[in-house]
Amino acid sequence: MSSRSSADRYSQPAIFFHWAIFVLVALAYLAIEIRGPKGSDSRLLWTAVHQWAGSLVLTLAVLRLLWRLWHPGPPEINTNPLLAFLARLTHLALYLFIFVQPLLGILMVNTGGDPVTLAGLNLHIVLAGTDRAAHTAIKDAHELIGNAFYFVIGLHALAAIGHHLIFRDRTLRRIL
Ligand code: HEM
Ligand code: HEM
Repeated sequence: MSSRSSADRYSQPAIFFHWAIFVLVALAYLAIEIRGPKGSDSRLLWTAVHQWAGSLVLTLAVLRLLWRLWHPGPPEINTNPLLAFLARLTHLALYLFIFVQPLLGILMVNTGGDPVTLAGLNLHIVLAGTDRAAHTAIKDAHELIGNAFYFVIGLHALAAIGHHLIFRDRTLRRIL
C-alpha cells in the first residue's frame, strides 16, 4: 500500500487545512508585528492584511471542523499516557484558538463602531453593535490570547520536531 493511501496518515484535505491555517495565522501575526506606527499608510495596509488573513482562518476552521467530524485523524502514536493527554489538550486548545481569536477580532472591530470590511470584497461583517465597554474587554482578550498562543503554537511545533528528530516516529511525516 502506498504511504499516501495508508490509514496511518491524515487525509489530504486535513493536511491542506492544517498547513493553510498555519500560513494564514503566521501571516496574521507577521502583519501585526510589522504594521508600523499609528496613522501611517503601512499600518492601514497591514491591518487590512491582518483582518483578511484572520477572517480566512475562521472560514477554513469551519470547513476543517466539518471535515474532521466525518473523517477522524489516524490513531494516536504516543504510548505514554501523559504525552497523549498533553497532545490532546494542545490540539483542543489550537482548535478553539482558530475559532475564538478571529471571532474576537471581528467583535472587537464591530463593538468599536465599525463593520469588518475585507479589501476587494463588497462585504460588511457585523456581528455586534457599538459597545465601548465590551470593546475594551474584547480588545484585551484578543491581545492576551494572541500573545499566549505564540507559546502554545511554539510548543506544538517543538513537540512535532521532537517526535521527528528524537523519537524518530511518523508524527510529523503523516501530516506532510
Ligand atoms: C488567527 C487570527 C488572528 C490572530 C492570531 C490575531 C492576533 C492579533 C494580535 C497578536 C494582535 C496584537 C495585539 C497587541 O496589540 O498586542 C492583534 C491585533 C488586532 N487584531 Fe487580530 N488576530 C486574528 C484575527 C483577527 C481578525 C479576524 C480581526 C478582524 C477582522 C482582527 C483585528 C485586529 C485588530 C483591528 C487589531 C489591532 C488592535 C489595536 O491595536 O487597536 N484580528 N491581533
Ligand atoms: C497556527 C499554527 C498551528 C495550528 C493552529 C495547528 C493545529 C493543529 C491541530 C488542531 C492538530 C490536530 C489535528 C487533528 O486532530 O485534526 C494538529 C496536528 C499536528 N500539527 Fe499542528 N498546528 C499548527 C502549526 C504546526 C506546526 C508549525 C507544526 C510543525 C512544525 C505542526 C505539526 C503538527 C503535527 C505533526 C500534527 C499531528 C499530531 C498527531 O498526529 O498527533 N503544527 N495541529
